Amino acid sequence: MNQAAREDLTTPTFPPPEELARNANVTEATYAQAEVDDLAFWAEQAKRISWSKEPTEVLDWSNAPFAKWFADGELNAAYNMVDRHVEAGHGDRVAFHFEGEPGDARAITYAELKDEVSQLANALVELGVQAGDRVAIYMPMIPEAVIAMVACARLGAPHVVVFGGFSADALVNRINDCGCEIVITADGGYRRGKPSALKPAVDKALLQCPQVRNVIVAKRTGQDTEMVQGRDLWWDDFVATQSTEHTPESFPAEQPLYVMYSSGSTGKPKGILHTTGGYLVGTAYTHWATFDLKPETDVFWTAADIGWVTGHSYLVYAPLLNGATSVLYEGTPDTPHKGRWWEIIDKYRVTILYCAPTAIRTFMKWGSEIPERYDLSSLRILGSVGEPINPEAYLWYRKHIGHDDTPVVDTWWQTETGMHLISPMPGVATGKPGAAMRALPGVSVEVVDDEGKVLGKGESGLLVLTKPWPAMLRSLWNDDQRYIDTYWSRFDNMYFAGDGAKRDADGDIWLLGRVDDVMNVSGHRMSTAEIESALVSHPKVAEAAVVGATDETTGQAIVAFVILRSDAGDGGDDIVNELRTHVANEIGAIAKPKSIMVVSELPKTRSGKIMRRLLRDIAEDREVGDVTTLQDSSVMDQIKSGLKGGS
Ligand code: WTA
Repeated sequence: MNQAAREDLTTPTFPPPEELARNANVTEATYAQAEVDDLAFWAEQAKRISWSKEPTEVLDWSNAPFAKWFADGELNAAYNMVDRHVEAGHGDRVAFHFEGEPGDARAITYAELKDEVSQLANALVELGVQAGDRVAIYMPMIPEAVIAMVACARLGAPHVVVFGGFSADALVNRINDCGCEIVITADGGYRRGKPSALKPAVDKALLQCPQVRNVIVAKRTGQDTEMVQGRDLWWDDFVATQSTEHTPESFPAEQPLYVMYSSGSTGKPKGILHTTGGYLVGTAYTHWATFDLKPETDVFWTAADIGWVTGHSYLVYAPLLNGATSVLYEGTPDTPHKGRWWEIIDKYRVTILYCAPTAIRTFMKWGSEIPERYDLSSLRILGSVGEPINPEAYLWYRKHIGHDDTPVVDTWWQTETGMHLISPMPGVATGKPGAAMRALPGVSVEVVDDEGKVLGKGESGLLVLTKPWPAMLRSLWNDDQRYIDTYWSRFDNMYFAGDGAKRDADGDIWLLGRVDDVMNVSGHRMSTAEIESALVSHPKVAEAAVVGATDETTGQAIVAFVILRSDAGDGGDDIVNELRTHVANEIGAIAKPKSIMVVSELPKTRSGKIMRRLLRDIAEDREVGDVTTLQDSSVMDQIKSGLKGGS
């Protein structure tokens, strides 16, 4: 259970600033309206989108749990994100203030974005891409990454964005699972003051992806890059020379929009499938509602990578759908100095910042004197996402970044949900540090017990969604059965989120962390099983067990226990580093265990299930709990006495 579970009566609460409440996009009346008829409410929100054929249906749940939203409507996603703003006379509005890590900057207007998206769409058509074809995107945080996503959406070709920090192996799995034939990448990107190459990982991956026909390579760092003749094409030569005219075609509302892989409780990542109409309605609405967005005046910044769902929904899709002006920052928060984020906020007069608690806790460690050097007065709303925000981090964020008067919205949602589902609304809620508080208008959540009985005030249990919502995942790629098993089998007619939650005495919701074998490290989902199978693939490892241990900065930290093979001896002096590097190669640097302990036994139940609870006790340096169900109760003593640890 997470540290944010604490509910402390001495923690202050914060009513919304008066002016914000007076002009708020969402009011108490909005909840009441949605309560009367949630489908009518969503039909109303669908008007935020331009349809080439207006939908007459809202939700088709006849084949539950496979939902169809706005099914008879037709639209083009990219038209909604760029063309219509240009047609409405906003072509000169800045869509993105791009800030490169080395300090280069570029403002991209909606008109420019429309032209560049059209050029890439034309280039993809020339390569034979058709609606329904999957395109892999493996990019740093540069404008071309956004352009690539929007161009795919324009063609009805689902994109599969793979986080640039993932390894070649992770790329292979995703490209092959989705059957991608085209990859869009870059020579590299800037990371901690240095160019960091990406293309070599693509080259390595493609040795195992024979179906990939072409690779489009954007030039960012100018580093030496090998190009495979006939397969690889430079963006500058092939894309930038295309026509800037491209007519968007209409697609049915349920046209697949993208697949995003996310860790589940088994080793194989799940390909979460989102479709067009409902996703656009859900993200556009929630972005407008949760952040009280005023597109003409706000400058919005989601400080997340496009390789995660937060980057998809609230860096690319929703801001563009709403015609907002956003910041796109390439690099790390401490390059070239620890005030970089605050310098960017000062420079672009950012009004809304959206980031993860792990970043906030890092800034806390660095000290409040750093943000104090910058003018942060433009900020009016602060958002948090990815894990529960502990009250200390909430209070620091509000005080030192939000000059003690900006609401903090703690947004609970998932890759699967596509859009925010639980969050205080900034003009309505009296903010409670640590609580995500209340379902958004039109969204129905409950906390239930193991049997699915709805719990009330003061009770803890499991979080479920009791009604479908527009941006919900439609299935898992090529795996309908796993979709049913993972989300819809635990309870009848309820979506099981995998999170524990409680309602406090006021009925407000607090999230308590995952209840399955998924860890949350720096706001990123990592599966224990995925890291265990990476460890076991090392020739010296016989068995591995991974747990998430509470960590002050990253929320949870990955701690691994491994049993070495008998022919590996003691593994050698450098065994811990060797294994950490191996995991980084298999999955990516973010999956590297913080510490690895070499042990001779693992605690197992009589049916052979590893008891992670006990390992977590060791990893968190606690008294070991109840061992009565262990097959061999002496094993915990053996582990504790024989640890060859290290971090
Ligand atoms: C956790 C990220 C508490 C939760 C958008 C969820 C949160 C998982 C919050 C989804 C929050 C996300 N409070 N927990 N505000 N936001 N989570 O798919 O455990 O990367 O199930 O989506 O992150 O992670 P994902």
